[in-house]
Amino acid sequence: MEIVTCKFPARASGGKLGCTAKICDRSETSLAFDRTMCPIDPSSAADELKVSAPDCQTDTSELIDLLSKTYLFGIGYWNGERASRNGYLLKSNYDWKASRIGKLGNEIVTHFGIWRLQVRVGRARVWVAGIGAVAAHDYYRKRGFLRTIANVALESLRSSDYDISLLFGIPNLYEKYGYRRAWTWLNATIETTQISTKAVPVRVERCRSAARADLAALYNRENANLTGTAVRPTFPLGNPFIETDAYLWKQNGEVTGFVFVGRTGTPFDVRSWAGDPEAILAVIKRLAMARGVSTVRFQWIHYLSKLSRFLRRQNCELKSEYRSSGGPLVRMISLERFVTRLRPELEDRLKKSYLSAWRGDVLLESGDEAVTLRIDHGKIEIAAAGSAPNSISGGEAVAQLLFGTDNPYEIVDEDENEAPGEDGHGLHFTDYPLRLPVEPGSDVLHDLLKRARIRGLGNISNMRSGQHIR
Ligand SMILES: CC(C)(COP(=O)(O)OP(=O)(O)OC[C@H]1O[C@@H](n2cnc3c(N)ncnc32)[C@H](O)[C@@H]1OP(=O)(O)O)[C@@H](O)C(=O)NCCC(=O)NCCS
Repeated sequence: MEIVTCKFPARASGGKLGCTAKICDRSETSLAFDRTMCPIDPSSAADELKVSAPDCQTDTSELIDLLSKTYLFGIGYWNGERASRNGYLLKSNYDWKASRIGKLGNEIVTHFGIWRLQVRVGRARVWVAGIGAVAAHDYYRKRGFLRTIANVALESLRSSDYDISLLFGIPNLYEKYGYRRAWTWLNATIETTQISTKAVPVRVERCRSAARADLAALYNRENANLTGTAVRPTFPLGNPFIETDAYLWKQNGEVTGFVFVGRTGTPFDVRSWAGDPEAILAVIKRLAMARGVSTVRFQWIHYLSKLSRFLRRQNCELKSEYRSSGGPLVRMISLERFVTRLRPELEDRLKKSYLSAWRGDVLLESGDEAVTLRIDHGKIEIAAAGSAPNSISGGEAVAQLLFGTDNPYEIVDEDENEAPGEDGHGLHFTDYPLRLPVEPGSDVLHDLLKRARIRGLGNISNMRSGQHIR
């Protein structure tokens, strides 16, 4: 196991030492305490952070304790603790090898969690490191612990099989680690009075759990080539932090549709669904009326999904949310792996495009990585970086260009001095660590090549230094 030791100067402020009485109070507080009830001395001379992957045998309890105290998960310490054991950290896609903890002596004082997800780009699939449960012990903040483990974790991801990383984070934090805005998200709202449907499923069943293999399979079939959707199950036992009621309906014994809805609140939130749009709307209308709510909101709807297309033919409202920081962020892990996985999809798109007979090299640069796409009549060879007549070079923003955005032209025109995200927006844990991206541009790669050729650009832009060609 890799262990990296980092030395830090002793903490300048010992002010918190006076709080030790509180440390042993197991009330629901964000103050951290040691599992063995011994307070950690923040001014300890042995001020050395050891970074390693967490051990699922020996580190679990302490890790869950740190996370439950740091977040309370919006549901309190003990419920958070239970939920972490029942599907969030344990029995989930949490990656014990790729995640990192930092220890001072034997105490876990910081964590950088990675969940493993597979996300579609057309018919290609990329491996995504979903970042979550990022935490530092309350007594040891602002001394570079997060910086250290984040850098170690991201560096070791390079030699893993992950292609790209996504997260939903607090504002103005993750840009330091190369993350850039990924996409906007879309919610569709409709009044129940505006829902007119004929096809009402004969029998709608309530299911005890939303985590069912048949529902995941139906979702995967329906979204088989929908860019930006994740291959389910993302949380095999369901996301324990999202309270959901699940309903399904069947035809000839087979599940043909389902909806997951929020338990309370107005508007009535629909969080996931699959099946015939008319049937979905009929079920939702019935559920909303039974609850006495008049407005229904489909959260994180994919612009190109069947339901979204159907809703746009009704009287509904679509709202796009843009966050330059503190929303969904993306970071390239390996440009070479990423484009290699995308190659079949990209070749398909090229063959169907007006560029089908084009020959030439395109140099792609992202962060400190570069590759050449050697294109010949719709075939692509991925070669080492070299000089090429067409190049796309945009620092970390290339991850957004390739994967995240719905409008590549906007990225190319974006300036580094764009307004930062709104302050004061904390982490919304119900959306954490990852839900589905909604509106990435399915034609980004096509556009990217088109742009490189049409404009004959030597360099599209260098967004980091704010120079770009409009
Ligand atoms: C956010 C948190 C993990 C930071 O840990 P930390 O060890 O204090 O962070 P570091 O000292 O390593 O700081 C690293 C950088 O992030 C910045 N930073 C630290 N906390 C920050 C915050 N809350 N918001 C924005 N930036 C922050 C630091 O200024 C520092 O910037 P620099 O490298 O330019 O100097 C810690 O405050 C915490 O656990 N908070 C509660 C949980 C949380 O909000 N997690 C993030 C969820 S997305």
